[in-house]
Amino acid sequence: MCGIVGYVGQRNATGVIVSGLQRLEYRGYDSAGVALYSSHRKALVRVRSVGKIAALVSRIEKDVPDQDGLDYTLGIGHTRWATHGAPTEANAHPHFSRSGEFAVAHNGIIENYVALKERLVQKGYVFTSETDTEVLAHLIEECYEGDLHRAVAAALEQVEGTYGIAVISSRHPGLIVAARKGSPIAIGVGSGETIVASDISAIINYTKKVVFLNDEDIATITAEGLDISSLKNVPVSRELTHIDWSLGQIEKGGFEHFMLKEIHEQPQALANAIRGRLLEKDGTTHLGGIRMTSAEIARIRHITIAACGTSYYAGMVGKYFFEDLAGLSTDIEQAAEFRYRNPIIERDTLLLAISQSGETADTIEAVREGMRKGATVLGICNVVGSTIARETERGVYLHAGPEIGVASTKAFSAQVAVLAMLAIVFGRARRLSGSTGRDLVRELLRAPEVAAAALEQEPAIKVIAEKYARAEHMFFLGRGYMYPVALEGALKLKEISYIHAEGYHAAELKHGPIALLDEHVPVVVAVPDLHGKSKTISNMQECRARSSPVIAIATAGDDEVNRYSNDVIRVPRCLDFLTPIPVVIVEQLLAYHIAKCRGCPIDQPRNLAKSVTVE
Ligand code: F6R
Repeated sequence: MCGIVGYVGQRNATGVIVSGLQRLEYRGYDSAGVALYSSHRKALVRVRSVGKIAALVSRIEKDVPDQDGLDYTLGIGHTRWATHGAPTEANAHPHFSRSGEFAVAHNGIIENYVALKERLVQKGYVFTSETDTEVLAHLIEECYEGDLHRAVAAALEQVEGTYGIAVISSRHPGLIVAARKGSPIAIGVGSGETIVASDISAIINYTKKVVFLNDEDIATITAEGLDISSLKNVPVSRELTHIDWSLGQIEKGGFEHFMLKEIHEQPQALANAIRGRLLEKDGTTHLGGIRMTSAEIARIRHITIAACGTSYYAGMVGKYFFEDLAGLSTDIEQAAEFRYRNPIIERDTLLLAISQSGETADTIEAVREGMRKGATVLGICNVVGSTIARETERGVYLHAGPEIGVASTKAFSAQVAVLAMLAIVFGRARRLSGSTGRDLVRELLRAPEVAAAALEQEPAIKVIAEKYARAEHMFFLGRGYMYPVALEGALKLKEISYIHAEGYHAAELKHGPIALLDEHVPVVVAVPDLHGKSKTISNMQECRARSSPVIAIATAGDDEVNRYSNDVIRVPRCLDFLTPIPVVIVEQLLAYHIAKCRGCPIDQPRNLAKSVTVE
């Protein structure tokens, strides 16, 4: 989705903003722009361009001559992912007010912009873009009476919808005003400089000290720091969070793509996710962030999981964990559906919101709905200080490190590990014996080594990828724990290779989709040596009988599947609940290498954004 970076300090703002925008490229965008205050001209200058940041940089070099290297020490920049109006230069942010004295970069959607625009047009304001954002720039100018903070607050009072904004004005050369409602804003506090951004990866190069705005906070930001108040001008204080992500973690580190790097980081991500949390002797786990006593855990009668996309599929694996290991009835809900239905939440329901970014709009709203209905709500997030992590106030961090690739990979494995740990803790408070708990904990300790063994299959996977890279359609099948993993495998393939892929329960195939099978439609079947294998082998035979090539993901040493497959990829033997991790790694590598053979832009697939902050 869109990205914002703003800078005020002693350095050349252009460099900080451009490098920040480059760090946000992974989120997906189709145009970009910067607005800078020129101390030489005492005015705002602006450069925007369609396409990649590189195009913006060459325009900046041409159009923004730097007077003395430090002409621009204040500015804002934006990467735009088009919603209202096509990706054109005129629609790119920042947007200027009529006088050119106020510039706004905005993430989110102003829902009542049509009514606001009509009113402003009647007053003589001329619009130069099709965006909803431009109304904000004009509104701020209209409300301005000498105080930028008050003008922004007054403009936002008139707005319905969501926003994360950064505003500068030529009348206030050392000031940025930022505000949020539904779209994240983080402010990095450096020494003599302050950076505002929609995502901490644009900040951590300069400082690890970050303040996150809450909804309806408005911040006045200078090189010396910031003050925050509510829209009603009541001062509020927000904690300073220390971010422990390093710069190296948000760079490619020798890999061709972030996605490949993150696939390979899974042993480490898993080691971090379980570190200090497995109590082998007691056969249980310790997850301090859930802040529930054993008695409170034992009182939970039902679990509802709400999430989107890959996090939803990890949640499906979680449903199996809670039922199998803890004997708890569990629903899994698409967050977008959950928030608009009238979900039944009893007092003894636990709502689990799973979100890598912690910023997915639908999952945030599911959390709020759960809280309104009195559920105990836990967040499972990767990004520290994200909206879901803060609003749930209790939960479990993945500690998987930053995930930059648009296609989620290491977050899925870490989510599965965290859900297994939660299920063990809930199981031990209910029906799980100490000795079974110990077996499960010992198996979870193997997660990093099991992930590493799956990664060793990469050369074989590459060969298979080359063989099937020209397919137009593919199926992914599985049953039991392998069913959600099949759905995730299909999602990975479609989003980065643009091959039409469908995930199905292995038994469902013959209830319709089998009609699509022929020799041009390969079928990837997750068939580890677990309960249900013989039934999945029957399904493989059904595919082969329709001439579809079958690619099996099978347990090392299990040669029975060879007879029913055209190709076999091996995963290490492990207990059923751990198997999703090696199998998904194989699917991720398969999707990656197929996409690479097809020449796809793997880290920035078309139409996709890393964090979906709109409905
Ligand atoms: C797929 C993918 C998306 C996200 C989904 C939820 O590879 O990345 O499907 O999983 O948008 O995002 P989070 O987990 O940040 O809520």
